[in-house]
Amino acid sequence: MKSFTYSIDENDKKLLQSLFTNKTATTEIRHTLDGFSKLMAYYKCAMMEIETKFNVLNEEFSLQYDRNPISSVKTRLKRLDSIVQKLLRNDNELSIDSVEENLNDVAGVRVICSFTHDVYTLADALLSQDDITLIKAKDYIKEPKPNRYRSLHLIVSVPIFLLHEKRRMKVEIQLRTIAMDSWAALEHQLKYKKDTEFTDEMAKDLYLCSQLSAELDSRMDSLREKVNI
Ligand code: GTP
Ligand code: MG
Repeated sequence: MKSFTYSIDENDKKLLQSLFTNKTATTEIRHTLDGFSKLMAYYKCAMMEIETKFNVLNEEFSLQYDRNPISSVKTRLKRLDSIVQKLLRNDNELSIDSVEENLNDVAGVRVICSFTHDVYTLADALLSQDDITLIKAKDYIKEPKPNRYRSLHLIVSVPIFLLHEKRRMKVEIQLRTIAMDSWAALEHQLKYKKDTEFTDEMAKDLYLCSQLSAELDSRMDSLREKVNI
């Protein structure tokens, strides 16, 4: 059986020792490290719960309609250095409680769907489950970001059942089509290339590419309707 332990590497340890506590007593540092490992294990469990829920929905859908609405599900836990950077950026306290209170995206699940219609079917199915609480929804498909990034983002909380307690954990879910995903992945690669300036012209081109990808999604969805799947 896989262990749920989040292993902290040497770099994480140094970072935690210098940032999450200014106390020098070893026991205090140990306590902080344990607390952080535990919190990350809880996030991992919550992420697995959500991943399983989508896999179940995919199975059921494919039994009923003989096709898969989900092309793939990806999960990721935010790295400690990104957690610290984000807390600092937002002027939040550097503590374990502050991570839970202020960050919504420590646990992330990305669901790549076949058609735009599937994005909404899956989101509705998940949100109608009685253990899921919607905290925030951002529909960048209906209202894309200024650069025309498209995806449906949901922040939900899901209970995880531990030995002696039930705990609600937040998970960020991004639902998008294959076309939305490939645009986002390529945009990310292009924009974060450090040694080349990203010009307005390039941004304009990327914007046009997103329009093309939206057109592709919309045509494919019309075809889906015609084929009646
Ligand atoms: P953070 O970006 O996480 O600080 O929070 P936010 O509240 O601004 O979140 P938002 O829902 O707008 O975006 C969260 C995530 O969506 C990001 O971490 C990316 O994974 C993805 N995302 C948002 N905008 C873009 C974009 O313009 N391009 C790409 N490639 N991904 C984006
Ligand atoms: Mg984020």
